[in-house]
Amino acid sequence: MSKVIGTSVNRHEGRAKVTGTATYGAEHQISELVYGYLIVATIANGRIKKMELKEAQDSDGVLAIFTHENMPAFPKANEGTSFHIGEPRLPLADDRIHYGGQIIGLVVADTLERACHAASLVKVEYEIETPTIDRQQASFQKSPRDASFEQGNVADALVTAPVKISATYTTPRQLHAMMEPHPIIAQWHDRNSLTVCEPTQWLFLQQRTYATLFGIPVEQVRVISPYIGGGFGAKAWPWPHAILCIAAAREINRPLKVVVSRQQMAAIVGHRSPTEQTIELGASQSGQLIAIAHAAKSYTSPVNPKYVENCIGVTPTMYAAPNLCVEQEIAVVNVGMPTFMRAPGENPGMYALESAMDELAWALQIDPIELRLKNATTEHQRKKLPFSSKHFAECLKLGAEQFRWCDRPMQTKAISRDDKLVGWGMAAATFPAIRMGASATVRLLLDGTAQVLTAANDMGTGSYTVVAIAAAETLDLPVYKIKVEIGDSRFPNGGLAGGSMMTASLAPAVVNACQLLLQEVNAKNATEAVIALRESGRPFLEMTASSQPGEEGKQWAFQSWGAHFCEVEVDELLGRVQVKRWISVMDVGRAMNAKAAASQIRGGVIMGIGEALMEECLHDLNLGLPVIKDLATYHIPVNADIPRIEVSFVGKPDLNFNPLGVRGCGEIAITGVSAAIANAVYHATGKRIRNLPITADKLLL
Ligand code: MOS
Repeated sequence: MSKVIGTSVNRHEGRAKVTGTATYGAEHQISELVYGYLIVATIANGRIKKMELKEAQDSDGVLAIFTHENMPAFPKANEGTSFHIGEPRLPLADDRIHYGGQIIGLVVADTLERACHAASLVKVEYEIETPTIDRQQASFQKSPRDASFEQGNVADALVTAPVKISATYTTPRQLHAMMEPHPIIAQWHDRNSLTVCEPTQWLFLQQRTYATLFGIPVEQVRVISPYIGGGFGAKAWPWPHAILCIAAAREINRPLKVVVSRQQMAAIVGHRSPTEQTIELGASQSGQLIAIAHAAKSYTSPVNPKYVENCIGVTPTMYAAPNLCVEQEIAVVNVGMPTFMRAPGENPGMYALESAMDELAWALQIDPIELRLKNATTEHQRKKLPFSSKHFAECLKLGAEQFRWCDRPMQTKAISRDDKLVGWGMAAATFPAIRMGASATVRLLLDGTAQVLTAANDMGTGSYTVVAIAAAETLDLPVYKIKVEIGDSRFPNGGLAGGSMMTASLAPAVVNACQLLLQEVNAKNATEAVIALRESGRPFLEMTASSQPGEEGKQWAFQSWGAHFCEVEVDELLGRVQVKRWISVMDVGRAMNAKAAASQIRGGVIMGIGEALMEECLHDLNLGLPVIKDLATYHIPVNADIPRIEVSFVGKPDLNFNPLGVRGCGEIAITGVSAAIANAVYHATGKRIRNLPITADKLLL
């Protein structure tokens, strides 16, 4: 019987955060620290002809200036496969400019202000080439990450299907816009031993990447990341500013801090690629799907022509059709690197698919929930494997009941309130369940408390608390008696906080370590173990254990499911959309912490509302520079934009997936949100907006 798992547990680190004692990446106090400020390109394509540094070098407090002309070489930059960097081109590699805002130099000074001032004195002469920014001018190629797939004959099936829809949807470039920017402090102890304080979603990858790049043993690199002020995927890999900071710190032999400014972040630490997706659906008169075609396009940067926003991965998991094909193309434009951003691919993919399903429901004149129930697939059509656990129908039914969906009139412009049109919309949510190997050390002390040590991280998602819950449950201790230390690469590998996999990977490892510890002294719980410990005369008991996936993925496909329901009010005169009501029902396996899991879902819904109604990073088409590049111009929701968000869970553990039956819930919530809103806007107004965000200009046309 579980006592702690599944209850609502307050954040373990909540007090530290609200009292300001939680130390974030830029806040670590290091003596003799000096400061770096990045110089970035003001053109989007071409090369540097000349950099005039004299005035900057002579400026007060300046210690060094790094450019492509004096950039230290990387000993092992091109060797090995044990590293992954966000932008494969190493910083200051040559005089080429591939995109606006690219790093072209670093000024180091004794204070941040002096570094910043000196950077403004550097004069750069460029040889300018015309950048390709306009997506209409980009040329597309088949995606190198071949996710394309076909079953049956879609072209023929679409010709004969009695009811058809075909539509193209676009999503804009989006920024992660997390609260904490990208800071790093690099400290060399000698040329072979490095400590890095940097927020990272994957300590072990960061540690191994830096070791490889700088040609030193892995154990000589320590990465410290106890608190992260949001990541959303943009802190999954090392970026050029961090590599440059570490290289510069070694050259000047001083601890060095570099913080990417909010404006610089728009170019150099990743974004979500824009997408263009065409979906064609063919169905029988009764609403049975006969054909699904999903063709997606995304964009990448010249510095890595292979990055794909894989919109089509989810399509074979959602609805069964004997004829189904998905394909993806990419084109290179002169922008910085796109990267993972909360539900990369799945999120824009579900916007298109779930909008198209709504369009089909209207064409068939049947209820959109009925259409989904009728066509939900029981197997992963690409993997040809059954889903280990799928309670999608329950999500739809429970959500419909809570929302009172049965009262929805099946016409547009049917409800109004206070001179505004009211519409109801729904959409499905989905995200694959993934886990990787993870390890944890558990230590039981004489005072009856326990410590868990693991190189996991918490970007606001609740990892501290989930680790404490897993240990409290297994040791039979109250949760406050568990001290959790994470975010230090000296602890065992805690895994990646990405792909919604940290809880699913780490919690079973914590349970294993606790069980081993109890077995060691033949105890049923911590109380018995402490007695044995006292008798043994040892100061503490300690055990390290791991957990990793086995062969279960050969038998099952693992996936989470959900449904969103919302009500919008549209002011027809102002073209303003307000979300008034929200209900989400999720099937994510077991929810370890009811409170944090619901918060995760709410966070995803809020981010989705931002995507649906406001978020868009635009570039100047001539200059190629981002014109939306700060939190004043990149609009994200504030409290006034967000209604009460009701979240519930189906709660069935997925025990085929891992021993706790937990699948994780970091990403699923954002999927389907923008479709639910677009569908509600259609219900309210009769206008189908196929280009996000749904702004006033589009509604007033
Ligand atoms: Mo997430 S986009 O897998 O950090």
